[in-house]
Amino acid sequence: FAAFLLLLGMCIIITSGRPAPSSNAFCRIIWLFGVPCDQVNMAIVTGIKDDKKSYKLGPVTPDQILANHTAKDGEIANLNFTMDSTTLSMGCHVQGSSVSPFWFSPFDNGTNYCNLYKVIKGSGLNKTPGFVEFTNEWLCLGFGASVCKCY
Ligand SMILES: *[C@@H]1O[C@H](CO)[C@@H](O)[C@H](O)[C@H]1NC(C)=O
Ligand SMILES: *[C@@H]1O[C@H](CO)[C@@H](O)[C@H](O)[C@H]1NC(C)=O
Ligand SMILES: *[C@@H]1O[C@H](CO)[C@@H](O)[C@H](O)[C@H]1NC(C)=O
Repeated sequence: FAAFLLLLGMCIIITSGRPAPSSNAFCRIIWLFGVPCDQVNMAIVTGIKDDKKSYKLGPVTPDQILANHTAKDGEIANLNFTMDSTTLSMGCHVQGSSVSPFWFSPFDNGTNYCNLYKVIKGSGLNKTPGFVEFTNEWLCLGFGASVCKCY
């Protein structure tokens, strides 16, 4: 079942992964959760609100959550969580992206990955049944370097 979800996640990335503008550093992640999207939406909003120092919540709709993240060095990243309940009958498919100006940190150092990861961890969604995270170095700059640094 997990393998099926992973495959599904990869197909979704391949079909929906548009190349990002080259002037930005970015990270794109697909998550699958075994809970309904309205719960996922609430948890993500709570996760963002819990860290008022770094995150600023933007417009929220049932399908989309926008937010900004300001790093200690002043770098601003635009976050976008888009929910899709139609892909999974019993759960929620979320595409998250974090985009920051390329000139600020050409090597990114996993900043954009951590911006997204911290929200999911803060929301507790990484503990829900059926949780799958899918990304890679092409979709998420500095992903390999960042995984151990977010904690
Ligand atoms: C987030 O940043 C964008 C520009 O990068 C700005 O237009 C938007 O108003 C900001 N949103 C919030 C909630 O601060
Ligand atoms: C957020 O991401 C979704 C899915 O990629 C996209 O359709 C939408 O236009 C994005 N919204 C903004 C404000 O960037
Ligand atoms: C990224 O890491 C490199 C090497 O550790 C460091 O020189 C650079 O300042 C870092 N950039 C940012 C934006 O943190």
